[in-house]
Amino acid sequence: MEMKRKFKMGLIGLSAAFLVACSSGSGDKLTVGTDAAYAPFESLDGDKIVGFDVELLDAVMKEAGLDYELKNKGWDPLFIALQNEEVDAGISAITINDDRKKSYDFSSPYFESINMILAKEGTSIKSAKDLEGMKVSVQNGTTGQAALEKMFGKNENIKKYENNVLAIQALLNGEVEAVVADNAVVQEYEKNNPDKKLVTISDKENFESEFYGIIFPKDGEHQEEINKAMKKIIDDGKYAEIYKKWFGEEPNVDVLKQ
Ligand code: ARG
Repeated sequence: MEMKRKFKMGLIGLSAAFLVACSSGSGDKLTVGTDAAYAPFESLDGDKIVGFDVELLDAVMKEAGLDYELKNKGWDPLFIALQNEEVDAGISAITINDDRKKSYDFSSPYFESINMILAKEGTSIKSAKDLEGMKVSVQNGTTGQAALEKMFGKNENIKKYENNVLAIQALLNGEVEAVVADNAVVQEYEKNNPDKKLVTISDKENFESEFYGIIFPKDGEHQEEINKAMKKIIDDGKYAEIYKKWFGEEPNVDVLKQ
């Protein structure tokens, strides 16, 4: 009896040691970076990162059988970390574009987006063209900044902030007349803050449709398995389930397959 028990305990000990060795020793836990100040895609709830991107990433990584850790790096530092290969990937509502493709790789697209204007109620702004000569805030290095610079050239009226929360704060403080950021983010903020008396203005002529992708250092190792997993969760309805939870409606997945 005693012998049997000892043997059993030994086995448990051995298998525990084996598990520890596998999960920590092999070093294949991926680090994924984000800038958790872009609700509903990624934001902090206490010290937990929550959002559509967070749940999508989790579903993709589970499907791909990859162990990972999501770290809140901040926006500009995330791109530096990708270049230094300090992170294996990033998910942060990041638009796939030609400029970024020169330095990074992307997964297949997972979300369609477009820039949008956030302003105070009673504003005279009706389209992006009306922003000419006005002080407008953007998050530094975003497609919102690029869209404004394309229309009006680089100029000092475009106020660049480290994150989008600060860009919105500048509007609330009266430092700028408008914010330009991704439509879902701007709409979420307006909806959740009725007391701030804000309006959103869309402009499908002057802003272009964009697609988000998971970003990787150039020639990283995981694109293929992540794309396979992404396709699987889009096809099997897991993607739609997460989308509905965060956006309250069915996604148009066909647009991701073009
Ligand atoms: N989609 C825009 C871009 O890629 C803005 C993304 C900002 N994301 C964030 N987590 N702050 O430039």
